[in-house]
Amino acid sequence: MKKAFAALALTALLLGCQTGSIPPPPRVTTSIIPAPAGVTAGQGSFTVSAGTRVLCAQANADCTWVTGYFTELLKRSRGLQLLTGTGEDPKGAIQFRLAGGMAPEAYRLDVVSDGVTVTASTRAGLLYGAVSLWQLLTESNAAAASMKLASVHITDAPRFAMRGLMVDSARHFQSAQFIKSFIDAMALHKFNSFHWHLVDDQGWRIEIKKYPKLTSVGAWRTPNQAGLKDIDPATGKPKPYGGFYTQDQIREIVAYARDRNITIIPEIEMPGHATAAIMAYPSLGSGDAPRGVETGWGVFPQLFNVDDATFGFLEDVLTEVMALFPGSYIHIGGDEAIKDQWKASAKIQTQMRALNVSDEKALQGYFTARIEKFLSAHGRRLIGWDEILEGGIPASAWVTSWRGVEGGILAAKTGHDAVLSPEIPNYLDWRQASGAGEAPGAGRINLLRQVYDFNPAPESLTPAQQRHIVGIQGNIWAEYLPLEDLVANAAFPRAAALAEVAWSPAPKDWDGFVARMSAQLGRYRALDIPHSETAMKVKLQSRAEGAGAAVTLSNQTGFGEIHYTLDGTPPTPSSPRYSAPLILPLPTTVTAGAFHNGHLLTYLTVSELDRASLYRRDGQDMKLCDGRGAAVLDDAPATGPRAVFFINAVRPCWIWEKAELTGVTSITAAVGQVTASRKPGVMLPPATPDGELEVHLDSCDGTRIAVLPLAPAVKNDAVTTLKGALAPHPGVHDVCLVFTRAKPDPVWAINWVQLGPP
Ligand code: ACM
Repeated sequence: MKKAFAALALTALLLGCQTGSIPPPPRVTTSIIPAPAGVTAGQGSFTVSAGTRVLCAQANADCTWVTGYFTELLKRSRGLQLLTGTGEDPKGAIQFRLAGGMAPEAYRLDVVSDGVTVTASTRAGLLYGAVSLWQLLTESNAAAASMKLASVHITDAPRFAMRGLMVDSARHFQSAQFIKSFIDAMALHKFNSFHWHLVDDQGWRIEIKKYPKLTSVGAWRTPNQAGLKDIDPATGKPKPYGGFYTQDQIREIVAYARDRNITIIPEIEMPGHATAAIMAYPSLGSGDAPRGVETGWGVFPQLFNVDDATFGFLEDVLTEVMALFPGSYIHIGGDEAIKDQWKASAKIQTQMRALNVSDEKALQGYFTARIEKFLSAHGRRLIGWDEILEGGIPASAWVTSWRGVEGGILAAKTGHDAVLSPEIPNYLDWRQASGAGEAPGAGRINLLRQVYDFNPAPESLTPAQQRHIVGIQGNIWAEYLPLEDLVANAAFPRAAALAEVAWSPAPKDWDGFVARMSAQLGRYRALDIPHSETAMKVKLQSRAEGAGAAVTLSNQTGFGEIHYTLDGTPPTPSSPRYSAPLILPLPTTVTAGAFHNGHLLTYLTVSELDRASLYRRDGQDMKLCDGRGAAVLDDAPATGPRAVFFINAVRPCWIWEKAELTGVTSITAAVGQVTASRKPGVMLPPATPDGELEVHLDSCDGTRIAVLPLAPAVKNDAVTTLKGALAPHPGVHDVCLVFTRAKPDPVWAINWVQLGPP
């Protein structure tokens, strides 16, 4: 008996071993972004070509919409026209099928040699299956009359219930058309939440019927310092800047988003970031009335007061907002409400005592609670930025954690749901790279890789607390993104990395992600989605080396192999492969690209190097003398191309680190003017009425080695090139470039600098 038992146990053990040794089905990598939860390879393939039928298994309006969306997407991106219809027989067709039993946003995608089936329990699931299938059909960017899909089985569902992006339409206004196109691009990443920052100090952008001055007054700001291009020739006065969304436009956008499984979370800021509203209706304020709708960036003192009439106003506004936005959540901001006005107001202080609140933070807590009660009574839930935790928040309130993840952790530990949206790395208005030609953005840099590597599961949370982390969000503030294309450019492709954080199961796979990125960039190109390819593009850096140049090639992601040519022809995978700095004679044209598996990942970098180019530096490749700056686009010059300046407008001062000055006797600087920030900043006294660009050796207090008067540039609202002598100081030196000026406006900025002759 004992023996038999032992034999049995051994058999079980062996069987167990055998079971364990059956190889798992092969895991396949597709180019789908965000990566699906489960992908296994099948056998055979199915070919999609013009005329392939796209069927709904059932006659169902949601399914019909999804098949229409899918075929339109394929037509736009591949020029391939498929046929839609209804039918039970999937043979030879792509069939979308509603079936019970799957999670709300889950789908299953099966490609077999007979056809393709997308199965889901909801419209959202069908939509996401359609997006994944479209991605399978756009893996290669090459045009083709038909596409062969390898057999594959995908089962997919999101990691986080809420996957969002925020766009700031207050600091700069984007058209309703742009908002729709942005929402369209979001859907392609399986985002389901659009947080719309609709009001701020610099503009009120949502029509409220009961309070027309919110938009007739609050939606418009007048530049405090107008350059030539800001003057309206008809009136001789500065042109107001602004705009707003009508309620009809908003209803259209809400419906457009809902079609794409995107809920819009409108944000109405209170009690701070309220200058535009208080400008429209000064009785809402707590202190001195604002001088105007704000024109600068930063944190401003205007706070709503806590009179019943003001709560009445806010409730009226929220009533109209709730009628427009059917989603469960209303964001009330709550961030950066500096309490100076409340502290200074005798009336507010008296009200605080009457309300028995201990301090101004607690008064904000009272404010939040009162609004929360109103929203709850109307079946909605309040969300605020993490500052709302400071005054104590109502049980049902959600928090958007932006000052790191700590607010989200605190919220989760105290039983509140939270969305993680930390500045580092989820602020997508931060620049994605430095260097000449980079788009504007807030000064710090959030790399594609940083966004990808964000850990949405803070270690200090227990599994039960982690369940309160309901969403992941990226924010695109618009201070430095004055054009709508720049908003999209800031978002993509970093939003693809964020989508993978929010959707795909852990652990993530950076190498796989960047490998999939080249297909994604191709999709952006095919659909005309403004985006950046900087993370994949080869960056060339050069310095003088004897009579030639030492050249370094790299790409930000470190992905792929860099191949280059020196004869102006495009490199191929058989061109020389870059592995170490190149020492090249001059002049030389370097053409370089990053390749993976024989495919070029993005555009080529072409650089014509000569002796002069080694002595030139772009402002975006310099260091700011003082802290955080921003890369700002000029104010649309009347003539000349637009320029990007990397600047701290409070202290406009740059360091060119380690400049080679041997043989250098002159300097040429391309300078331009940008509008002053709110603060006048550091102003060095000028020697001439229009001021000068001063060049100092080794540090900003060092010997002055060149002075370029600004007079020739004053009347030019485009970039002006100034040239002057530079006192010889052979050797390698840091060079400080700083402007003198008699008045705060304009602020002068460096575009690029050329030293000569070497
Ligand atoms: C924020 O960035 N003030 C939420």
